[in-house]
Amino acid sequence: MDGPLIEIAGLTKTFGAVTAIQDVSFVAEPGRVTGFLGPNGAGKSTTLRTLLGLVSPTAGEARIGGRPYPDLDRPAALVGAQLETAFHPGRTALDHLRTVAPLVGASDDRCDEVIATVGLTEAARRRVGGFSMGMRQRLGLATALLGDPSALVLDEPANGLDPAGITWMRGFVRAFAAHGGTVLLSSHLLGEVEQTVDDVVIIARGRVRHASSLAELRDLAHPAASLASPDAARLARLADALPGATLTSPHDLTVPQLTPAELGAHAFAAGVEVHRLTETGETLEQVFLRLTEEAA
Ligand SMILES: Nc1ncnc2c1ncn2[C@@H]1O[C@H](COP(=O)(O)OP(=O)(O)O)[C@@H](O)[C@H]1O
Ligand SMILES: [Mg+2]
Repeated sequence: MDGPLIEIAGLTKTFGAVTAIQDVSFVAEPGRVTGFLGPNGAGKSTTLRTLLGLVSPTAGEARIGGRPYPDLDRPAALVGAQLETAFHPGRTALDHLRTVAPLVGASDDRCDEVIATVGLTEAARRRVGGFSMGMRQRLGLATALLGDPSALVLDEPANGLDPAGITWMRGFVRAFAAHGGTVLLSSHLLGEVEQTVDDVVIIARGRVRHASSLAELRDLAHPAASLASPDAARLARLADALPGATLTSPHDLTVPQLTPAELGAHAFAAGVEVHRLTETGETLEQVFLRLTEEAA
């Protein structure tokens, strides 16, 4: 499988007075999982719906394999989508798939196949109305897979999944990308997809705030270190000597921009007895929050 490049270029969408997204540009590469991350209302679904031809852009363009969705010859063979889908509650999972199958040129056998792929075989003949959120997510993914696509666009696929479901979803999209497929998935929680994505695009209030590999995002974390000592007098002198240092108590010192090793070396040189030395820099989640809160 050789997945298509997904390319969003200068995309803007306004709904009346509301600008949902403004000048959004990024790419999702084949063989990689791209996480499209941002708080609720950031513009993720609007971007993905525009990519899939469900919303017409006010300005800019979204392309899959070089062409806008409405111009694709056999879209279901190129891209499978899982959006916030409403299923007919009275239909069984299999009925749902068999209703969609003819629209994408898929056979009844293919319906059984995708049901098995997402682990819903046991529930195939149960009504969707009684499904949990996690089961609905799986059925949504099965629907996306019907046309055997080489790209997947998934809107909040981890939403409502239990930890076992998240682990399963992670394994599935990782394998899909490992075979050359393109995966673009959204989430409002970085922690939920941290172990799933290779690349991150962060959106807030309709604008892209950051795009890079996950490794490069980690490098943006501000370091800091903390130290506990029984010797309040020497600790206070050390605090005065280190820029930005704060005593959070007479026995606890926190210093920005230092690693634990660097702070330990300063303490050693100053003759400060150390009882505890900890890394207290920004977590990845804190970096994500900072980027979404900063003004553009
Ligand atoms: N059909 C619509 N009509 C009016 N406003 C909309 C519509 N769709 C989305 N919006 C608005 O656009 C903004 C982005 O929404 P959305 O793309 O759903 O964000 P997200 O998926 O990141 O939570 C929100 O302010 C939302 O209220
Ligand atoms: Mg959304």
